Amino acid sequence: MPGLLITFEGNEGSGKTTLIRATAEALQRDYQISTVETREPGGLLLSEKIRDLLLHYPMNPWTELFLYEAARAEHLHQVLLPALKKNQWVLCDRFTDSTLAYQGAGRGLNWDQVKELNLLATQGLTPHLSVFLDIPPQLGLKNATEKNRFEEEKVGFHQKVRQGFLKSIRQEPQRWIQLKALSDSPQNMASGLIQTLKTRFPQSFRKKRSPTSPKKRSTRE
Ligand code: TYD
Repeated sequence: MPGLLITFEGNEGSGKTTLIRATAEALQRDYQISTVETREPGGLLLSEKIRDLLLHYPMNPWTELFLYEAARAEHLHQVLLPALKKNQWVLCDRFTDSTLAYQGAGRGLNWDQVKELNLLATQGLTPHLSVFLDIPPQLGLKNATEKNRFEEEKVGFHQKVRQGFLKSIRQEPQRWIQLKALSDSPQNMASGLIQTLKTRFPQSFRKKRSPTSPKKRSTRE
């Protein structure tokens, strides 16, 4: 699979979406890298419909787990695999580690069973790199704007979720970068992240366009 899958994880209100936007912009502008920004659950019509069920209708934790995995299976085949095959870099807002953190640690479902279901839904596709934006849950909840079933959960639930992310990091430290959420402007955080990406995946970066390189002559001149 030629492209790269980079996932962004963290509690509510940790600034994932803005960091994804700033990172995609810088990758396109400075390195001519073709990016796809997407999110789970969602990213396309069917998964967005499942997202609506998940975020707004009360349900049993197992139903919740299977719906996240169903949305993921569809997203994998419709968005992730086609983009990776085209050598694009996929920046995905939440992925399998959110399921471990929310349904595993948060709802208390069996961690290893959640892991197995994740593997089935993704057919073994794992992120090349995962970025954890760490924020104290109480602060993150204040930043979260969209009122959904998860944001209405008590802070204790969100503390368990954060512990879940930290457990994923302990299990696979080499896959993760940990950043303090909202510690700098999204642009500065994105350029720091890109420096790390350059160290980890040097072969994936083309030569940076030089600002002084001669411009192509317009055919109209
Ligand atoms: P969203 O509004 O996208 O949250 P955020 O902006 O914080 O990313 O809502 C997605 C919610 O779904 C979020 O509360 C986390 C939850 N979630 C799970 O519980 N399990 C999962 O596998 C995923 C992908 C998300």
